[in-house]
Order: sequence, then structure tokens, then C-alpha cells
Amino acid sequence: MEGKTAIVTGGAGGIGSAVCRAFAGSGVGVAVADVDGTRARDLAAAISVEGGNAMGVEVEVRSEGSVDTAVQRTVDHFGRVDFLVHCAGNNIRSPALELSVEEWSGVLDTHLTGAFLFSRAVGRRLVEQGEGGRVVFMSSVAATAPVPERGAYSPAKAGLIGLAGVLSLEWAGYGINVNAVCPGMVLTPMTEMVYEREPTLRAQRLKRMPAGREAHPEEVADLVLFLCGDGSTHISGAAIPIDGAFLKNGFMLESE
Ligand SMILES: NC(=O)c1ccc[n+]([C@@H]2O[C@H](COP(=O)([O-])OP(=O)(O)OC[C@H]3O[C@@H](n4cnc5c(N)ncnc54)[C@H](O)[C@@H]3O)[C@@H](O)[C@H]2O)c1
Repeated sequence: MEGKTAIVTGGAGGIGSAVCRAFAGSGVGVAVADVDGTRARDLAAAISVEGGNAMGVEVEVRSEGSVDTAVQRTVDHFGRVDFLVHCAGNNIRSPALELSVEEWSGVLDTHLTGAFLFSRAVGRRLVEQGEGGRVVFMSSVAATAPVPERGAYSPAKAGLIGLAGVLSLEWAGYGINVNAVCPGMVLTPMTEMVYEREPTLRAQRLKRMPAGREAHPEEVADLVLFLCGDGSTHISGAAIPIDGAFLKNGFMLESE
């Protein structure tokens, strides 16, 4: 992977920052792309102090112009792009009967339209370069185990699996592999925000987790790096759970 370049959207977030650090530790130049430009630049600076090669890029993943500029800046800085990891995401709480169109679109556009805009912009570069590439979408177990009262979250995560499938077919001839990763609960700022909003939720969920714990962001980053590495050349169009068997828990007795 040495000398290659990755763009990580939501790169300043919990999972995104672990992915950025993992890439940097493997000699990959990283564009930390996030709507929070300050945190993106701070993380890039910290990675550089740690010996990695990173730049912070402020981007709004829902805006076509902002996405195209972010990809152009990345290529101008590093000279190329090889990997896209789309981690940008948000989450609201609202029953469907009370959900506004703005709330619905705010979630759907961040997860799914953002994935489309970024993969189109990066995909064009990858085709031009002619050396293949890898795209990874951060989906969720929520794609197949729908979460009630979370607006478009589950539909958006299911849509990411659909988009990964479409692109894996369209781009197979270019040597570009496109996969979705489906974490269960991961201990990140987004999860902490949800637990703060709903204080009994963590204890309830832990009872339904076969592994008895959430994932660490670094465990998800390891899977992303595998999907961008030489060990996964024939994996494309897949949606891979990383959930400690959470999706298999239908008959599981709740732990005390
Ligand atoms: N934490 C979990 O348990 C969990 C489980 C499954 C999937 N996921 C998914 O993983 C991804 C990362 O989650 P996380 O827990 O690290 O969340 P996080 O809140 O820590 O990080 C999300 C990042 O996305 C950025 N972002 C939000 N909207 C943006 C926009 N419009 N443009 C650019 N950047 C934007 C935020 O600034 C933030 O840095 C999300 O897509 C989330 O749905 C998380």
C-alpha cells in the first residue's frame, strides 16, 4: 500500500479517524475529509506528527461542488487517489409519523447521496489512472436489522449495499472493487451521543450482543484496510458484517 492515497469521508469521526490512522500506519497518504474542517485538519496534523502523511479537507458530502473540489484538492496534493472510504454519517431520532422531509433528506443525503457523489468523482480518477482501486462504504447491521424511529438511517444503509453492488458490476472491468462494511455497535462519539440521548439503550443492547461488547473503531479499520489490500483482490460487491454475531441473535436468550 506504500505510496498510495486514500480519501476518508467522515474522516474526523470515530470510525473514520481510526481508518485514517490505519492507512497512515501502512504508508498510505490520507485525505481526512470532513464537514468539520477544524477536526479534519487537527487529525491530519496529529497523523503527520506521528510520522504519517495526511491533509485535512473540509467537505460537505451532500454538495456536488464541494465533493468535486475535495477530490481535486486530494489529487493536486498527493498526485493520485487509490482508495475511497465513505464514513460520513449522521443519525436522528424521530418516529416516521413525525418525520419531516428535511430530516429524511438530511440523513439519506449524507449517507447515500454522499456515497454516490464521492464514488463518482473518485471513480472517474481511478478510471483515468487505469490501475484499479478500492471503494468501501460504511453501511451497518441496520441495513438488514432495521432500527425503528431513526428516520432514513436503515433505508440509507440498505441503499449503500445496493450502490456497492451496482458499482461493483459497472467497475469490475476497471479493476475497481466496491464493498460495504456493516458494523454492529461501535464505541464512537456517534454511539455515545445516542446513549446520552437514550440512557437505558446501552444496557438493553448489550443483552442482545453475543460477544457481550461493542466493537472498537480499530477493529472496523482493520477490515477496511483488508478490503483495500492485496489479500482481497477478488472480493467485490460484498456486504460484510463486523458485529460479533449480532445479526444471528434471533434465537439468543437475553443475558442478565
Ligand atoms: N458507531 C456505530 O456504532 C456505527 C455502527 C454502524 C455503522 N456506523 C456508521 O459508521 C460511520 C461513522 O460513524 P461514527 O460512529 O464514527 O460517527 P461519528 O459521528 O463519530 O463520525 C461521523 C463523521 O461524519 C462527519 N459528517 C457528518 N455529516 C457530514 C457531511 N454532511 N459532510 C461531511 N462529513 C460529515 C462528522 O463531522 C463526523 O466527523 C457512519 O456512517 C455510521 O452510520 C456507525
